[in-house]
Amino acid sequence: MPNYKNQQTAHTNSSSINRRRFLTFLVHGGWLAAMGIFVYQMGKFMGARDVLQTGPEPIVVAGTTNEFPPDSTVYVSDAQAWVHNDGRNLQALSAICPHLGCLVQQKEIPNTGYQCPCHGSRFGPHGELERGPAERPLRPLDIQTTENDTVLIRT
Ligand code: FES
Repeated sequence: MPNYKNQQTAHTNSSSINRRRFLTFLVHGGWLAAMGIFVYQMGKFMGARDVLQTGPEPIVVAGTTNEFPPDSTVYVSDAQAWVHNDGRNLQALSAICPHLGCLVQQKEIPNTGYQCPCHGSRFGPHGELERGPAERPLRPLDIQTTENDTVLIRT
């Protein structure tokens, strides 16, 4: 006489193992998916940071002195810098906002300072911090004029 009770138990155990395997598969798959999303988001974040931190070359040829006339402020894109000629000297400021790295623009009135289009930080004409959220002034850069009137900026 067949033992139906044992067959039913065996069947129940077998379906229980399949259910357990399936649930294990779902849990592990969920973890893998979550890890994949996490790694992808971290990669995007790190990539964005790399883009923000990719800066200009260490020394940039900004042009010749006649490209920076007295009382002018000129943007040098290769250096990501603003160069101001006050009539006596050239001064260079990094255009990279010390808050999160956007490029600052001149204020509406030229030669009065800079403002950040991203979160509204404002800086005076010499890069001094006027309003946050940035907590530091714009970084001054080394600028030199060679004997043949070439302007070099160390970024
Ligand atoms: S990046 Fe300039 S204020 Fe935020």
